[in-house]
Amino acid sequence: MEARRALAHAVEQLAASPAIDHWQRGRERIEAEDLLDYVLGEEPEPGDEVSGANVRRFQALVARRVTGEPIAFIKGYAEFRGLELIARPGVFVQRDSSEFLAEQAIRRLRGRKHPVHVDLATGGGAIALAVANEAPGTEVWGVDLADDAVRLARRNANAFELEASFRVGDLFGGLPARLRGSVDVITLHPPYVPVGELGDLPGEIRDWEPTHTLTDHSADGMRLITRTVSESPRWLRSSGWLLIEVSPDRARDVKRAFAAGGFRDVRSTKGGELQVTRVIVGRRPR
Ligand SMILES: C[S@@+](CC[C@H](N)C(=O)[O-])C[C@H]1O[C@@H](n2cnc3c(N)ncnc32)[C@H](O)[C@@H]1O
Repeated sequence: MEARRALAHAVEQLAASPAIDHWQRGRERIEAEDLLDYVLGEEPEPGDEVSGANVRRFQALVARRVTGEPIAFIKGYAEFRGLELIARPGVFVQRDSSEFLAEQAIRRLRGRKHPVHVDLATGGGAIALAVANEAPGTEVWGVDLADDAVRLARRNANAFELEASFRVGDLFGGLPARLRGSVDVITLHPPYVPVGELGDLPGEIRDWEPTHTLTDHSADGMRLITRTVSESPRWLRSSGWLLIEVSPDRARDVKRAFAAGGFRDVRSTKGGELQVTRVIVGRRPR
């Protein structure tokens, strides 16, 4: 079968799936191409013949995606700033949007003397590992409440031979006390969905991402963020930054929390390919 035909059929099936969140125009084609490239190990030309065995493999993967299974679990990895990080059910799959959060951290760490970065709620370690990769010389720490997340982050670090330490802990709980007052950048991409809104999430998120990765179980989804804003100054250097990624509709509340906590130079920055990611940034209060 020609690649073009195999793709067209897959796009139709993906577009008809009620389990997939069709929020982005053309997403079905991007995903179908991604899966076909994965099967073939390269990007085919539209007129290329795909062997019967490969068409069957491709269709089997498309059938899994039609049930809502995230592409990252089907392939077993997801790329983040050039790193192909292992993805496993049970641990939140990092979003492309967080590449902007990592970029903001890297920019603030480069050029500092003995820089220290802490990635809170690190999940599989994507943000911490991007920093370790792109701001060499940085002492990188990642903390997560879930031990399967920390195990995966360590596996990812080993796979790329990146220097980063991962700890199980509640927020700053797993960090050595000697880091107090010496951290240059803290990043957080938290669970921030208000507990009452969990049911509104698309099935492919609700059914595949564990609840503790989506919500902190508070009514407004601000509990972990508020705690971070109030506990960060103790860990930051006087010139240090706190960076928190949230969805655009939460940005104003988070900005307000930074201001109420006395943070300086507070801004809501916007970036990523679709220019929708919001990263709220602020310097440690004096
Ligand atoms: C939205 S996921 C983000 C993971 C990672 N930062 C990323 O962007 O891929 C939120 C993460 O917060 C972790 N988490 C939830 N409550 C926590 C807490 N109190 N302390 C540390 N981590 C927590 C969850 O286990 C989950 O891995």
